[in-house]
Amino acid sequence: MAKNTKIFCIENPFLDDQILEAANIIRNGGTVAFPTETVYGLGADALNKNAVFHIFEAKGRPADNPLIVHVDSIKSCLKLVKNIPEKALLLMDEFWPGPLTIVMERKESVPDITTGGLDTVAIRMPENSFALELIRLSGKPLAAPSANLSGRPSPTSAEHVISDLSGKIDAIVDGGQVSIGLESTVIDVTCDPPAILRPGKISKEDIEEHVGEVKIAYDDKVHHESETVRSPGMKYTHYSPDSTVILVEGEHEKVACRIKELVNDFTLRNAKTGLLITEEAIKDFPSDMSFSLGKKDKPEQAAKNLFLGLRYLDGKGTDIIIVDGSFDSNGIGMAVFNRVRKAADMIIKV
Ligand code: TXA
Ligand code: MG
Repeated sequence: MAKNTKIFCIENPFLDDQILEAANIIRNGGTVAFPTETVYGLGADALNKNAVFHIFEAKGRPADNPLIVHVDSIKSCLKLVKNIPEKALLLMDEFWPGPLTIVMERKESVPDITTGGLDTVAIRMPENSFALELIRLSGKPLAAPSANLSGRPSPTSAEHVISDLSGKIDAIVDGGQVSIGLESTVIDVTCDPPAILRPGKISKEDIEEHVGEVKIAYDDKVHHESETVRSPGMKYTHYSPDSTVILVEGEHEKVACRIKELVNDFTLRNAKTGLLITEEAIKDFPSDMSFSLGKKDKPEQAAKNLFLGLRYLDGKGTDIIIVDGSFDSNGIGMAVFNRVRKAADMIIKV
């Protein structure tokens, strides 16, 4: 039966009582979507099996894909993990609150449904004040995957959550646009050297500065369901809009040229074509079917605009979305390429 999803529009989480109402829903075993600095999450009490079940149900998420547990202090991790390894402490000290998720050995108190049956648990302390207040007021660690239907691009605004999950969850805290736009970096510290399972704003180099060598344990491909991968989410994550996505990668001028050819081709074939394109090239494609990825040497702008743009163009009823892959791949750019390559049905290198 469809739920009557409450929407709390909150300007200041410290001054508005509605955040208390949202926290009460969590305490009573409900599901509440809320903003974090990365993307919106769909939260429930991580230690309440029934509440966590409702997250999987609402998203249509495969049961073996574990959830990230969100806390508001390092101390609250002690209830969730057997021990906090030295390297994890160094990382928490440096990057929390912030977009870094740390995988550690779980305590029995964390239910199987939350960890997808793994003996580890992924934990993060978000930086967003709405998220922190919701955790603090509910007094619970919050299991929260991105608040999208499984397989869809992650939501960067409350409107995206409404469009995917309205009627399926108890409430949405609308705290405006997120600031980063791409999910957190996930690092596993149960192995030596620690392994990055998902790239994000905090890069390998940022991490190595504090804990020495780490290895990369992800790739940019979509895996088959039967494959075993270290971070189960990475085999399911397609970040796919409904349209066919074509990524054109390479040096800026060549990419712009190739995109022009593709647009001409698709126009002749009557395919409704949308462009997710760098600021430098957008002037050559003036239309409401072009969405800016930002400046090509500012990958943090591409991070903020990628999911937003995919959803915007999808909403315009495009058949094809062409993505300009000429932005910088350093820093968060690497994570943007990871997501867009997984979303792409075809990658053209020029
Ligand atoms: O930025 C983020 O991380 C957002 C916000 C809401 O915090 N959350 C998010 O959650 O992206 P989700 O569920 O969409 O992605 C979680 C990723 C998945 O790839 C999952 O497989 C991995 O983290 N993960 C969770 N627990 C794990 C564990 N114990 N071991 C390995 N990977 C794990
Ligand atoms: Mg997700």
